[in-house]
Amino acid sequence: MAKVKKAYFCRECGYDTSKWLGKCPSCGAWNSFAEEIISAPNTSVPALVASHAIEPAHPQKVQEIECGKTVRLDTGNSEVNRVLGGGVVPGSLILLGGEPGIGKSTLSLQLALTDNGMTTLYVSGEESAEQIRLRADRIGIHNQNCTVYTETLLENVVAQIETLRPNIVVIDSIQTMASSLLDSSPGSVSQIRECAATLLKYAKSIGTAIFIIGHITKEGTIAGPKVLEHIVDVVLQFEGDNNNIYRILRGIKNRFGATFEIGVFEMTGTGLKCVENPSEILLTHYKEPLSGIGVGASVDGVRPYLIEVQALVSQAAYGTPQRNTTGFDARRMNMLLAVIEKKLGMKMIQKDVFLNFAGGFRVSDTGLDLAIVATIISSYFDSPLSDGITFAGEIGLSGEVRPAPRTEQRIAEAARLGFKKIVISGYTPKPNKAVTGIEVIKIHSINELPKHIFDKVVSGEEYI
Ligand code: TYD
Ligand code: MG
Repeated sequence: MAKVKKAYFCRECGYDTSKWLGKCPSCGAWNSFAEEIISAPNTSVPALVASHAIEPAHPQKVQEIECGKTVRLDTGNSEVNRVLGGGVVPGSLILLGGEPGIGKSTLSLQLALTDNGMTTLYVSGEESAEQIRLRADRIGIHNQNCTVYTETLLENVVAQIETLRPNIVVIDSIQTMASSLLDSSPGSVSQIRECAATLLKYAKSIGTAIFIIGHITKEGTIAGPKVLEHIVDVVLQFEGDNNNIYRILRGIKNRFGATFEIGVFEMTGTGLKCVENPSEILLTHYKEPLSGIGVGASVDGVRPYLIEVQALVSQAAYGTPQRNTTGFDARRMNMLLAVIEKKLGMKMIQKDVFLNFAGGFRVSDTGLDLAIVATIISSYFDSPLSDGITFAGEIGLSGEVRPAPRTEQRIAEAARLGFKKIVISGYTPKPNKAVTGIEVIKIHSINELPKHIFDKVVSGEEYI
């Protein structure tokens, strides 16, 4: 049998050598060598793929390219369909990344067990068949054609895909898979790259959609080489706070659609439940109005939702005041506090400020600035915001209020949820069609904000 030829390549400069080196003689980088296959015998996996080889391509005029409508498979899960752009494209390779315990295995097993007439193969290198059965019982087995295979050897997995020809394959996880052609351990750069490349060839040649689960590093990026994200067609990221029940599925890359959709899920005792209406879970109806609580009209991708903002402004006990945020960039909050101090003359320098978002959501939408500032003012004066008020606007360094992206959609969502008024930027372009049922208040500067947000006059402050 012909031997597999391997070489070691420097990841920094591409220098090749036949054996591993600690330091690259060419560029001087340390620990940069990764093993790679340079030629494999005929019996190897890539050769197996050759039996399904696609015809060699030829150059053609763009207008002459035939394009049939891409048939998308309905995954049976409305939120996953939405993020993928209307379903999964056969033959695509989808990478699902996320922190440990976030629910990657749960979501993918759920997809495999959905009753939508598809044959599915769930390959696990992390859990035993019994563990998977227990989880399947919790979720509910709705698909009689779901096969579970606990294996870590790539060649065996590929052989099963070849025999079973499922519509959907789940690989849990790419870090546990290894090819026998390489000596390096599972999870190493070369193994991950080799496994992903082989799976890609398979997905494309037999039209099976493959979901690959990928771990996340401490820094929050998908573990393994960046090239993994280049190889796959779609990269999905599963986010959320482990201590909270809400999860967001975000498209980071999608060769078959846009990436601005998000999917929202709730972790229940029986798996992940789709949340069609995020606003409803992010808003709490309190018995009586409370100070330091406001509602912002936000947009994530193209999806508008209303979210509760909570702020606590209290007298600082020590010299340096505390500034704490959960789910929001602390530097942005400091900037907003500086603008409040300078433009509204409020003595924020002597105050501790804490900021929270409902549901453990992480937000980065600058359109929430106005809601944050209003909530901070409300806590500062210990006076509840006017009933049924919401906000959408970005604040600049000079205290000017700038239009938030997709303001129209935010207004429409606020009106749909029964809000009475919304404060927006006066610089917002005239909407195509006016939303009815909600009073739209336009302001140009943060100075105009305090007089619109309270029902009653707050004593001691002449500008309100
Ligand atoms: P898991 O899907 O294994 O996460 P990952 O594969 O991303 O590491 O598990 C997610 C967590 O969800 C786990 O701690 C248990 C919990 N869980 C539920 O709350 N309800 C359920 O129905 C299931 C299956 C899991
Ligand atoms: Mg898992």
